[in-house]
Amino acid sequence: MANRSRFQAARGTRDLLPPDTAMWNHVESTARSVFGTYNFGEIRTPEFEVRDLFARSVGDETDIVSKEMFLLEIPLSDYRSYIEGIELSGIATTDATFVVLYFKFCVEAVEELKKGRIPSSSNKELLERFESRREEIRSQLIDARADLKNSLEFLREIIRNIDLGEQFALRPEGTASVCRAYIENSLQQLPQPVKLYYMGPMFRRERPQKGRYRQFYQIGAEVLGGQDSPAIDAEIIEMLMTFFDKLNLKGLELDINSIGHKDKSCRLGYIEKLREALGKISSRFGEDSARRIDTNPLRVLDSKAPNEQALIETLPKITDHICDSCKAHYETLKTQLQLRGIFYRENWRLVRGLDYYMRTTFEITAKGLGSQNAVCGGGRYDGLVEELGGPPTKGIGFAIGEDRLILSLQEQAREAAAQSGGEASDQSPVTSHQPPLIFIAWMGHNTFATAVRAAKDLRNAGFPVEVPPTELKFGKALGQADKLGAQFALILGEDEVSEGMWTLKNLTDGSQIKLPEPELIDHLRTIGTPRRR
Ligand code: HAM
Repeated sequence: MANRSRFQAARGTRDLLPPDTAMWNHVESTARSVFGTYNFGEIRTPEFEVRDLFARSVGDETDIVSKEMFLLEIPLSDYRSYIEGIELSGIATTDATFVVLYFKFCVEAVEELKKGRIPSSSNKELLERFESRREEIRSQLIDARADLKNSLEFLREIIRNIDLGEQFALRPEGTASVCRAYIENSLQQLPQPVKLYYMGPMFRRERPQKGRYRQFYQIGAEVLGGQDSPAIDAEIIEMLMTFFDKLNLKGLELDINSIGHKDKSCRLGYIEKLREALGKISSRFGEDSARRIDTNPLRVLDSKAPNEQALIETLPKITDHICDSCKAHYETLKTQLQLRGIFYRENWRLVRGLDYYMRTTFEITAKGLGSQNAVCGGGRYDGLVEELGGPPTKGIGFAIGEDRLILSLQEQAREAAAQSGGEASDQSPVTSHQPPLIFIAWMGHNTFATAVRAAKDLRNAGFPVEVPPTELKFGKALGQADKLGAQFALILGEDEVSEGMWTLKNLTDGSQIKLPEPELIDHLRTIGTPRRR
């Protein structure tokens, strides 16, 4: 046999399998129902977008955009960079070499156009011009005496004008897409604010570790338009806490901060002060923070390096330097949270790693996750819609890391099981509320049709059912039922079918009863107990 290597999921991605997926569905349906009670509607945006959307919103200089985005290939773009590199290098190269390179590029561009991989409207006419001279230039290339000057200029102009199309990126987050969709679908014409939630995969090329994946899932919500009242910030945080409460997730900590406006009298003024203070002690920081002092001093506050913590504590605090109106906004936010009975911790170092934030920022951390313990991050981003070409618009939102949320729920279930002396199990509280699994043990060729009909009726009534596709001996059938974790076996032999009296065996306690067929479903409904597995 040929030795075929096996495929594996790409680094940083993973399969989600039953029974865990039941927990994922439970989390998602809880989000839908809680967010629905706050009058949010669902939005689904594409999983890839034009790269520049993220550069302009999340920020070109952020780690997410500069290092972690999964970019989709642009046909011929490497080839064009290669040619430009040679042109710029100043290495003496003959006209003939360039004509060959340009010619080959144009031939490939024609192929890409035929496959629809480069834009047609902008390139069609240009490449038709190339096609009309293609044979003439080809014959020049095999004629050593031909003067190539004219063809060189002609091809160079074509290459310069070819439109290779836009660069796309797998979305690293959802806020930028929601703002793009708000503008594109003229949602500012609806009653404001527009309240939207989303869930789905996001992609970041980070170094994978526990709780950090390259494809991960977020559940997010955004409030766009209307006012920037702190009551909106508080309500969205209340919605989050209600959601976590409904999931019974304990031990969460909410950190809040205000990072002010982007202008001189507010955050920019603070950044100058911060840079000045950092400049005096820069030699005591590690390489990463030292670099950030120049590029983005706010991010130094994020540092987790143990030897930098005491230094950071000596730095000026943002909340002491923001302008009066941002201070007032922050003070009201705190009162609003107290009013709703929400506990929070003020964390002046919470600056977040995305550029679009202003004023309120918040993060929620959970237990049992190690270093990747942020389960949710969010904040206010007034002005982002305008930055993306829309009208002046207020905005605030959050995104929950669903993978981390689920890890934390599982960790909590394990701890609870260990404390109650029960064996640690991966059984989620979710699967245990499913109706019991019924295994149909049919024996005798003539009973199969009845088994199929019974399975259909039971499934219609909402019970999960397994029917073996081929006949099994009684002992084997019960063994199989047991392995699958079935709660009941419906035993259908020739006698049962002809009498119309079916046998239902409870596989947990071994008891069994005989029932007329029409009473089966009602009986199961009254005794339906949780699944064993
Ligand atoms: P973020 O803090 O970049 O914010 O991500 C939000 C959450 O996504 C994090 O707290 C974390 O739980 C999860 N997360 C991020 N990266 C990974 C990863 N590689 N693996 C697993 N989980 C991860 C945003 O994305 C903003 N769009 C949130 C927002 C919405 N702000 C306003 N509206």
